[in-house]
Amino acid sequence: MAYTVPKLDDYSPAALDRAIADLRSALEHEVAAVKSDADHEALRIRWRARTNGILTQINDLWLKAAPKEAKRDVGQRVNELKTWVEEKVESAKPGTASASVADKLDITLPGIRRPLGAEHPVVKTTNEIIGIFAKMGYSVETGPEIETDYYNFESMNFPPNHPARDTQDTIFIAGQESKPQRDRLLLRTHTSPVQTRAMEKHRPPIRVVAPGKVHRSDTPDASHSPIFHQVEGLAVDNNITFSDLKGTLDHAMKELFGSDVKTRFFPSFFPFTEPSADVQVTCFKCGGKGCRLCKMSGWIELLGSGMVDPKVLAFHKDNGYDPEKVSGFAFGMGVERIAMLKYGIDDIQLFFHGDVRFLEQFA
Ligand code: DAH
Repeated sequence: MAYTVPKLDDYSPAALDRAIADLRSALEHEVAAVKSDADHEALRIRWRARTNGILTQINDLWLKAAPKEAKRDVGQRVNELKTWVEEKVESAKPGTASASVADKLDITLPGIRRPLGAEHPVVKTTNEIIGIFAKMGYSVETGPEIETDYYNFESMNFPPNHPARDTQDTIFIAGQESKPQRDRLLLRTHTSPVQTRAMEKHRPPIRVVAPGKVHRSDTPDASHSPIFHQVEGLAVDNNITFSDLKGTLDHAMKELFGSDVKTRFFPSFFPFTEPSADVQVTCFKCGGKGCRLCKMSGWIELLGSGMVDPKVLAFHKDNGYDPEKVSGFAFGMGVERIAMLKYGIDDIQLFFHGDVRFLEQFA
C-alpha cells in the first residue's frame, strides 16, 4: 500500500516520533525501488511537488493543524524532516551512487598483497642435498612409500626373521597373511629399497640419489617422528673403492655445513653394506672442542654408509651387477636431522605442526 500522510490527533513527542518513523521508512522503500530517471522524476513529484506533494501535505496536516502549544516543537521536527526528505530524494537519482564510488576509488593506494608460499624447511634441505650430488653427476630416483617386504628388507639383505629387521620398527599393512612374505606390504622404513628399484631399471654404471618419506613405529618426541625423510645414495661402477665413498661424502658434508668441517668414518653395521660406516662431522657449533650439541665429544653422527654388499649386487647380476666385476658404495641420511643441525632446531615435531610462525623463518 502506498504511503499517505495521516492526520495527527495526538501531538505528543512519542506520537510524532512514530509518525516520522513511518514516513522515513516509506521513503526508504520508495527510493530503493527507483530504477530509471522516469522513476526518479515520479518520486520527486510525489514527495516534493508544491501542490499536494507529501512535504506540502505535512506542512498542512501536521504543522498548520497543530495546537498552539505544540507548534514550536512540531515546526522544528518538520523542518528537520524536510531537509532529510529533500536530500534523500535528490540522491536517489540513478547513477549518483556509482559516480560517488568512482570518486572514492584511489588508484594510488597499494593493492591487496597475496603472500607467496615458500619451501618447507624439509623440502628446502632435501633440495640442497640433491643439488650437491647433482653437481657430482648423480640423478634422482624415486620409489613408492608403500613397499613390499622384498624391496624394503629381502633385497637389502635382511633375510626373513633376521634380528636386523627389529631395528627398523616397521609399520605393516594389515590383512596380508595369505600372501607369500616377500609380497606383503609395509610402509617403507628407509629409502634403501630405491637402490633395488634403480638397479632393476638401469645397468651400471649408476649414480643416483633417492629422496623421500619413510615411516617407523616410533612414539613422537623431540628427536623421533613416525614420519620422516631420507636421502639415499648409490654409486656402482668398475673399481669403486672405499676412498671414493670417503671423498664423496667428505665433499658433500663440506658443501652442506661449510668447508671447515672434517669428517671421520666409524665402523658400523648395516645388512646391505660391507664394510659399513657411520659418518661423523666435527661439531660446527664448537668447532670440535666439545659442547652440549656434540655431547662434549666434538663430533656429530650424521649418516650411514658403506660398500654395497656383494649379496645386494647379486640380486641384479643379470642386469650387469656381477659382484665379481663391479663394486659400489651407498649412503643414507635423515633430512630432518640435518635440517635441525643446520638451523639449530631442537624439536623435530616443529616440522610437522604446520605453524606459519615457524615455517616463515625459512622463506
Ligand atoms: N637405510 C639406513 C637407515 O635407514 C641408512 C643407510 C645406511 C643407508 C647405510 C645406506 C647405507 O645406503 O649404506 O638407517
